[in-house]
Amino acid sequence: MRIEPAGAVGGHIAVPGDKSISHRAVLLSAVGDGETRIEGFGRSADTESTVVAARALGAEVVEEDLDRLVVHGRGLRGLEEPAAPLDCGNAGTLLRLVAGLLVAQDARRFELTGDESLRARPMERIAEPLRRMGARIETEEGHGPVRIEGVGSLHALDYRLPVASAQVKSAVLLAGLSADGRTTVVEPSPTRDHTELMLGEAGARVTRRPTSVSVEPAERLSLARIEIPGDFSAAAPFVVAATLLAGSEVTIHGVGLNPRRTGLLDVLERMGARIAVYNRRRAGGEPVGDLTVRSAELVATAVEPREVPLLVDELPLFALAAGMAHGESVVRGARELRVKESDRIETVTNSLRALGVHISSEEDQLRVRGVPTRPKGGGMHSAGDHRIAMLGAVAGLVSREGVELEGAESVAVSFPGFFELLATIAQR
Ligand code: S3P
Repeated sequence: MRIEPAGAVGGHIAVPGDKSISHRAVLLSAVGDGETRIEGFGRSADTESTVVAARALGAEVVEEDLDRLVVHGRGLRGLEEPAAPLDCGNAGTLLRLVAGLLVAQDARRFELTGDESLRARPMERIAEPLRRMGARIETEEGHGPVRIEGVGSLHALDYRLPVASAQVKSAVLLAGLSADGRTTVVEPSPTRDHTELMLGEAGARVTRRPTSVSVEPAERLSLARIEIPGDFSAAAPFVVAATLLAGSEVTIHGVGLNPRRTGLLDVLERMGARIAVYNRRRAGGEPVGDLTVRSAELVATAVEPREVPLLVDELPLFALAAGMAHGESVVRGARELRVKESDRIETVTNSLRALGVHISSEEDQLRVRGVPTRPKGGGMHSAGDHRIAMLGAVAGLVSREGVELEGAESVAVSFPGFFELLATIAQR
């Protein structure tokens, strides 16, 4: 696909429902008692995998509309053994979170697999703590397929996460619902907290502290209705495009503004971005608002390790913004990027460099020497990674000569209508 340079971007848009919260909504309602209505469901290849998995596990999922589901839950420990391995597709969140629920399904066996990218990602990080809780779970040399034999009782665990990962935290907390006491997860630095927020809404006893979270054993979860806000990570490409293109003004309505997701806003603001947040409200226990972004000149900044989880999925876009800022920017402590849908230290560095951005990388760092003019443009490949495809699209808009983007179709993993929406705001 060819992305032509844009003069500016402008208009009012809304983005699909949050992917992280959509996965959790389907999974928690599948183990809920009774019926859950999910509104604002973010439909994508990833969340579709979760709907298919929930059905294979015995939950009834009625699709009333594209973004409206009704799920009839099976109860916390009432999931069925599926006839075939559960195919999690590209979705790490699905595989890691559902594992935390499956380990407590007594006397049932499960196999979790996925596409080539997912099968290359580390799974011992969930298997190890779950095993300490008494779970029977095996990986294949640290990777998927993951095999689980459900057990009747699990032990409570105090677990210090070796890496800041919301998915690992969530797997342990979900297993903790079926443990024999209070389970606590200590985080090296705060990660997204959608699981604990939704568990609280569903009636579980959750205790939150600044660097840890605990859950008590539960007999049942119940959530009558879940309203899912717009996905901040889907809004981020538009935020960055509007910031970088002079003369732009874009308003994005109904975006989730959970502070553990909006690190990119804080980082861009200290670089000089002009972003206004208004209509602040709450939906389904999550903060929501509207964002208006106007173009601005940026100055370089450093993103420190503690901040990384707060914009982990937006770091590719940050690197592009840094490429057009005054001065040298750096991201430190970003090793986790190596185990995402692609090795994003590699894919971000290679693709942006090919487009004329002055970027270099080390094991856990990105370094960008900004030049406050448009990068030249050129050709790049998404490497099958949806976030890299969206990066290529924004890079094309802000480039001088456009970008020839291979593998553009991978945006469907999180945001099937991305290019159509982008076309509606691009001005020539
Ligand atoms: C996610 C957590 C993050 C993020 C991923 C989605 C989640 O990964 O990168 O896209 O829904 O919990 P970590 O497990 O590394 O925090």
